[in-house]
Amino acid sequence: MIAATNNPGKLREIREILGVNIKSLSDVGVVSDPEETGINLKDNAFIKANAVYNGSEPVFADDSGLFIKALGGEPGVNSARYAEPGHRREKVLRLLDGVEDRSAYFETVICYIDDNVHFFSGRIDGVITRENRGVNGFGYDSIFEYNGKTFAEMTDEEKNKISHRKKALEKLKEYLEGN
Ligand code: IMP
Repeated sequence: MIAATNNPGKLREIREILGVNIKSLSDVGVVSDPEETGINLKDNAFIKANAVYNGSEPVFADDSGLFIKALGGEPGVNSARYAEPGHRREKVLRLLDGVEDRSAYFETVICYIDDNVHFFSGRIDGVITRENRGVNGFGYDSIFEYNGKTFAEMTDEEKNKISHRKKALEKLKEYLEGN
């Protein structure tokens, strides 16, 4: 299986959870950086997987985002591009200043192409904190709280047990095991 990513953290997690041999884009010498023009996670996951699929080896791609209720689902599919690097969490906290309902969820959609195109999704519900907490993780981890802890206050192991990505990967794993 080829995973349409060169992100080492993602590759490690995919290898660990699926327990199968995964090649990265650089392993197969593919330079793929398609524009993520989809209007939702599913579209973008498909765009990334389809850009790599050549009809022989299965391909995996995923797309994730943070969906905040009080912001009408933003940043959602635009999570990676919501503001300049280093300013995304501050933008969220500013927009939610004084807002009581801080519910939010992370979602991942995986697109897996073998002879067919398959989608698997995973979601985790939580709340947006009032300030950054914790030093682990990446992206919006330090402002997303689940069960009293932000993702950035959890170890990788704790987060990867419950994360949106893990849930989607588990569904893909079930599919692969049934095949
Ligand atoms: P990607 O599709 O996995 O690259 O995720 C897109 C963007 O969503 C990332 O650049 C992050 O800003 C955000 N994101 C996705 N998953 C997480 C997570 O587990 N923690 C924090 N931010 C995340």
